[in-house]
Amino acid sequence: MEIKNVTVIGSGIMGHGIAEVIALAGLDVNLEDVSEEVLNKAKASISASLDRLVNSGKLKNKEEVLSRIHYFTQIPESVKDADLVIEAVPEVLEIKRSVFDQLDKSTKDNAILATNTSNIRLTEIAEGIKKKGKVVGMHFFNPPVVLKLVEVIRSQYTEDEVFDSVFEFSKKIGKTPIKVYKDTPGFVVNRINAPESLYFCLVIDKGLAKPEEVDRFARSQGLPMGPYELMDYVGIDTVYHSLQYYAKELSPDYSKCQVYTKLFNEKKLGLKTGEGFYRWVNGKAQIPEAKPTKAVELMDIFALEINEAVKIIEDGVASPDDIETGVKLGMNRPFGPITVAKGLTNAEVKAKLESLYQKFGVEIFKPAKSIAEGKLKSVISMQVAPKAEEKKEEASYVSSSDPVITEIKGKIAVLRINNTKNNLINAAVMDGLEKALNDLWNSRDISVIIVTGNGSVFSAGAQLDSFFNSTFDFMEFSRRGERVFKLLSEIPKVTIAEMKGYTLGGGFEMALACDIRVATEDVQIGFPEVTLGLVPGWGGTQRLSRAVGQSRAAYYVLTGERFTGKEAYDMGIVSKVFSKDTIDSDTLNLAQTIAERVAPISAALAKRLVLRSTNTSLDDGLEMEAISMGLLYGTEDLKEGISAFLGKRKPNYQGK
Ligand SMILES: NC(=O)c1ccc[n+]([C@@H]2O[C@H](COP(=O)([O-])OP(=O)(O)OC[C@H]3O[C@@H](n4cnc5c(N)ncnc54)[C@H](O)[C@@H]3O)[C@@H](O)[C@H]2O)c1
Repeated sequence: MEIKNVTVIGSGIMGHGIAEVIALAGLDVNLEDVSEEVLNKAKASISASLDRLVNSGKLKNKEEVLSRIHYFTQIPESVKDADLVIEAVPEVLEIKRSVFDQLDKSTKDNAILATNTSNIRLTEIAEGIKKKGKVVGMHFFNPPVVLKLVEVIRSQYTEDEVFDSVFEFSKKIGKTPIKVYKDTPGFVVNRINAPESLYFCLVIDKGLAKPEEVDRFARSQGLPMGPYELMDYVGIDTVYHSLQYYAKELSPDYSKCQVYTKLFNEKKLGLKTGEGFYRWVNGKAQIPEAKPTKAVELMDIFALEINEAVKIIEDGVASPDDIETGVKLGMNRPFGPITVAKGLTNAEVKAKLESLYQKFGVEIFKPAKSIAEGKLKSVISMQVAPKAEEKKEEASYVSSSDPVITEIKGKIAVLRINNTKNNLINAAVMDGLEKALNDLWNSRDISVIIVTGNGSVFSAGAQLDSFFNSTFDFMEFSRRGERVFKLLSEIPKVTIAEMKGYTLGGGFEMALACDIRVATEDVQIGFPEVTLGLVPGWGGTQRLSRAVGQSRAAYYVLTGERFTGKEAYDMGIVSKVFSKDTIDSDTLNLAQTIAERVAPISAALAKRLVLRSTNTSLDDGLEMEAISMGLLYGTEDLKEGISAFLGKRKPNYQGK
């Protein structure tokens, strides 16, 4: 549905900014509020904000932008032609309900009714009105002209078309929308922030540090403002009300905070009242001199954010990618919890959360279910979307439509190609494989990767049904495959290709890029390319010669003749042959044995040495071996390996 006419209701901090964003995007917008006096304040704020854009050279036509904003003091008149209404009145349920009641009666049948609420459930706001399906969340961040994020939120009633139209419209006005599939308290960004608000309260309540010591610590870590200065700046009342709301909606733990309540009752609300945690003079906090505290660690905050992100994914509220984008853009930070989680092990996050739980006695600091079960890496690589049949009711994980499915089983990642019956490789599969490999590259939780196909076929090769504009484009398609398979061949993990059904053409090239190959006895292997007018273009000619020698490789590449898993075993391409019925579990068992037995850093270095052995002189190769030995001498895993060997027990390698 095309959105042309927009009305914003409420012209306060958010409303006037949202109207300005829409006018800056070249659209006309109506702005409504209770009186001319309030609207005049909004006009002055918009004018001052546009002046700043003009002065910084970002805007030329201020008057033209101003002329697109039309002011109203009556809702019915302001919304009669609207395709989209964005409500930004105070965060008070009764006020919002009364506005929506008027919108229900005064708007066109197909008008979209969006709310900029930060916390209140859409379902509650829409209660009692007829056009429930048209109600959607459109959560901008303050200041809307600067911050790019818009959380687009659906309730159980929201129509698909409404959700999609608002998502597209948000992009059209220059914002980056993320999809929030359930209207749960705090949606994404505020929810991620909630446990750390409680944490900083408890740090003070328990006398672990003074606000100035924590804020000095935060600044020493490169943050522009410490948490208490920021809370003073935002308003202690806002923080207090949010925690009250979360106590009601999420967990009674949020009512355990004392210091915010005390400041709120004493009307010490921060900047706006001149005093909060600090005294404020001329818009600046008077922070006493203090040494940075050691009682607070960045890892505390990271662990709490990761924990909350995992709960959001588990609940099917939003995808990991959208959570990452949301936190980056909504909190104006260089990275979010998903990026941090990729660099940590499940064990590290779990241990930190358990220690925070012990220290503060707060249930919400306990590891989320997936972290408790060791599934952090699998959850943060999940795609989250509403299942088609349950769209209105529930959102949940879906991964079966992904071109590459990632499953995490302890220290093993299984990558399943999932495209057509024969798992053909196209650009989407390449993208999926590249993303999965990049995600796993630095993961210290994973030591072995199994590459296989979904179902009974490994991969019957490239899907050549795409249109290529020129010979050059086709050459680049080949280069793309070579790049991704190089990534696969070089990833610092042990890789196993589980070959079954067909392993042909590009599929065989993918298998050759792995370290170890296992196969069913009857799997059909081969390079049919020359019989189709092509050559193996994803590394096949090079890797097969290195694996079996030039003469044999030439035979199979030049004839296109197929061979079986049994023959491949005899040639030494395949290391183990498994039965067709048990190959999935046999390969997993092999991967588990490797994961338990080998030290991950040793394996990564040894893999590199073997990989380089074919194009390195003996002397250089021996030198690389000696350097690797030197490197390994400093690892914890070497100590563990020797001590386990002497103690006649299984080693417990940490990849350190
Ligand atoms: N301030 C923020 O940082 C922020 C960020 C994101 C979302 N929000 C949400 O945006 C909404 C607005 O917040 P704000 O900070 O702009 O509030 P605000 O108090 O600055 O502005 C609210 C405006 O609504 C007007 N208003 C009140 N009743 C009205 C009615 N019946 N009809 C029309 N106008 C009416 C008021 O006169 C006022 O101008 C809230 O739901 C809030 O939770 C705020």
